[in-house]
Amino acid sequence: MNMKIREATLNDAQGITEVHISDVKIPRYEELSVEERYRYGGPWMSVETCAIHINNLLLHNHPVLVAEENGRILGELEMLISEEMFLGKIRKICHVNVLMVHKDYRGKGIGRALMIEAERVARERGCELITVTPEDRAVGFYKKLGYETLIKEKIFEVKTTKGNANVTKKKFSWEDVRRLDIVAGRFQSSYYHWFSNFVDVIHGIDTDRIIETGIVGKSYYILRRLPNGKGAVYVWGRYEDIPVILKRAGNYFQEIVTCSNIKLGRIIGENVILGKALCSGVAL
Ligand SMILES: CC(C)(COP(=O)(O)OP(=O)(O)OC[C@H]1O[C@@H](n2cnc3c(N)ncnc32)[C@H](O)[C@@H]1OP(=O)(O)O)[C@@H](O)C(=O)NCCC(=O)NCCS
Repeated sequence: MNMKIREATLNDAQGITEVHISDVKIPRYEELSVEERYRYGGPWMSVETCAIHINNLLLHNHPVLVAEENGRILGELEMLISEEMFLGKIRKICHVNVLMVHKDYRGKGIGRALMIEAERVARERGCELITVTPEDRAVGFYKKLGYETLIKEKIFEVKTTKGNANVTKKKFSWEDVRRLDIVAGRFQSSYYHWFSNFVDVIHGIDTDRIIETGIVGKSYYILRRLPNGKGAVYVWGRYEDIPVILKRAGNYFQEIVTCSNIKLGRIIGENVILGKALCSGVAL
């Protein structure tokens, strides 16, 4: 294969969209609106939304890599680099939030080549760890590349009740929360959840899903509507503030889905974050 791995630009939005669409069956794609396409799998489903998303990453200095062969994009990888509370201390980490190889080109070493380059870039940027939240179907791939389980949390469905919870509604900065533990809702990295709710938003799509953000006690929270109509909560701070936030969520949703270290409701699954140390002497 005459393939090269390079940093993406906005010129690649069309090619990146084609890679992601190859993974999903979308009937009558041409007839669908941007919002309808988005529902099949997020911003990568249309060139319009994909370009906004890639633009947001690049503007914030988060590397996006593509695998290209003869001018055609065959794979894409996105990295979010942050300093955040991870396994008990502030660490500089690189979280791979997206890796997709075109369906017709899998099993040819493209995924591995993208990950090796991501590790090199992350090391160059001074990260001590590279992490990923794998889809079930990709766990074997990451294990093969030497990734190990770093965090395992149960996913809960919580029935909520309406309540008069005392909160201060407000937007908050990454600086406000980066030193705090994310005590509910860490499906990906802590930074991913802040970035995807406050920065990487698409007008008319994400803006309708972010229901409320604010402060309770010593914790910061986000309430978000999931595509299935249920709510999601993300909490930075203290476990003891979670019940108040769930009461607040009860004003909008009958059911909430979140993950945590503590039992919050009915267990419906498990979220696993895998990772690899990028330098020697990293204590996990
Ligand atoms: C997972 C994915 C990125 C792997 O990319 P790929 O280009 O097909 O993988 P590679 O050819 O580089 O494979 C590298 C090694 O991992 C193995 N491997 C690849 N996919 C695997 C899988 N799903 N399970 C177990 N092993 C896998 C390969 O056999 C190869 O092993 P080898 O070196 O011993 O031959 C790709 O299949 C994909 O895009 N899948 C759909 C989207 C997805 O799941 N993305 C990850 C979300 S977190």
